[in-house]
Amino acid sequence: MTAGEGQKMWGGRFERGPDASFYEFERSWQFDRRLLPYELALDRAWSRAIAIAGILTHDESQRIVAALDDIELRAESDAAWLDSSKAEDVHHFAETALIEKLGALGAKLHTGRSRNEMVATEFRMYVRAAAREMRAALALLIRAIADQAKNNLGVPMPGTTHMQHAQPLLLSHWVLAHGEAFQRDAERFRLVSDRADCCPLGSGALAGSAFPIDRKALAHDLGFTQITANSLDAVSDRDFALEMLFAMATLATHLSRLAEDIILFASTEFGFVELPDEYSTGSSLMPQKKNPDSWELIRGKTGRIYGALMALFTVNKGLPSSYQRDLQEDKEPVFAAFDQLKPMTQIGAAALAATKFRHGRLREAAQDPALVATEIADYLVAQGIPFREAHEIVGKGLRAAERQGKSIREMPIGEWKKLSPVFGPELSTVLALESALARRSVAGGTAPGAVRAALEDFNARLEKIEHNP
Ligand code: ARG
Repeated sequence: MTAGEGQKMWGGRFERGPDASFYEFERSWQFDRRLLPYELALDRAWSRAIAIAGILTHDESQRIVAALDDIELRAESDAAWLDSSKAEDVHHFAETALIEKLGALGAKLHTGRSRNEMVATEFRMYVRAAAREMRAALALLIRAIADQAKNNLGVPMPGTTHMQHAQPLLLSHWVLAHGEAFQRDAERFRLVSDRADCCPLGSGALAGSAFPIDRKALAHDLGFTQITANSLDAVSDRDFALEMLFAMATLATHLSRLAEDIILFASTEFGFVELPDEYSTGSSLMPQKKNPDSWELIRGKTGRIYGALMALFTVNKGLPSSYQRDLQEDKEPVFAAFDQLKPMTQIGAAALAATKFRHGRLREAAQDPALVATEIADYLVAQGIPFREAHEIVGKGLRAAERQGKSIREMPIGEWKKLSPVFGPELSTVLALESALARRSVAGGTAPGAVRAALEDFNARLEKIEHNP
């Protein structure tokens, strides 16, 4: 034969084998070998299913299962064997190895099935396992967030909108805000895994198997709880892979946004955090530098994850019904995104856990009187002044303070009274940072009590993820 090795999976109809360069071009073993554990599990389940259907004897099925076990053991310990294989794809690899061991009996296994349904099934099994691994990595990150929220309870910081000082926040509230996004991600990966839980086996190449396969029993044998409803859809549906990529792209977005905050906070201008040596790098030129490279790489790698999602969308767009070889292009984007995102999540978790927040600097920044301007307006409202009018009065007060070169906390009460007679001596309490924080005691607000309650609820959800990855 021109290329490949061992038993061909097709070719009876061909006079000549594939050109060597084309064979290299069309092979997928180099990357789909990652599916080998699922391929072998599927082969074992299939040999049992076709024995029940009367195609193999019980004894034949047992011999096939034993041979597949041997192949699995060798694959686990003999990387050179896998590296040197010239198999076309993971299905070809397993079948060749089986026929090498069992001869004609090995050649019986492919009865009544197609690689089209096999690859769809194995890819679903992979996505389910990968989604579980992402949840486990997320559990570490969410744990790091819960610990930072707990260890920094009570520390204030300036909250911003449009990157301008807005209202004070608790640092724990800020870190838990990122935590909520990651909790949604963990939930999203669970949904991805649930939706991939639908077994295409029995769909044949496109029209359904012509042999009496008990599809439900076969699905259960492989850990699926459901079977696909339409054979033609089943061999070409890649929604589960798109959903996995969407979940990964969304997580990458959240990581990238956390990274952006920390990079800003680590700048000299902010000085809110001290970067951990273990997750930072220096400059080869400037001795004073400690750079947030872990977070910059997390932010930078996000682009690849988006690219993978876009690549798979584009592969799917415009495909006619049924399996097309284009679909072989589905796996690499998912593998590549996973290979980047899992360490992004783990490194993010470790770097965040090791980050020190500079309480002194945060408290000092949170004392900016501009952060409590809203409090004055709310105070006037409590005295019966309509909010729009109160807003106007405070604006004038801010301008007056500015003209006098004073902060609004320093401006004498007499000056305020000029703007409205309702101002009283309790204004100084209203302007205290602590009271601005304490007033935001609604559920989900930044008051210390609300944040403690939120942290408790956050931890309860985290424990579920930790116990059920
Ligand atoms: N390597 C192929 C893939 O990844 C397996 C299915 C091949 N089917 C076919 N009809 N050529 O999609």
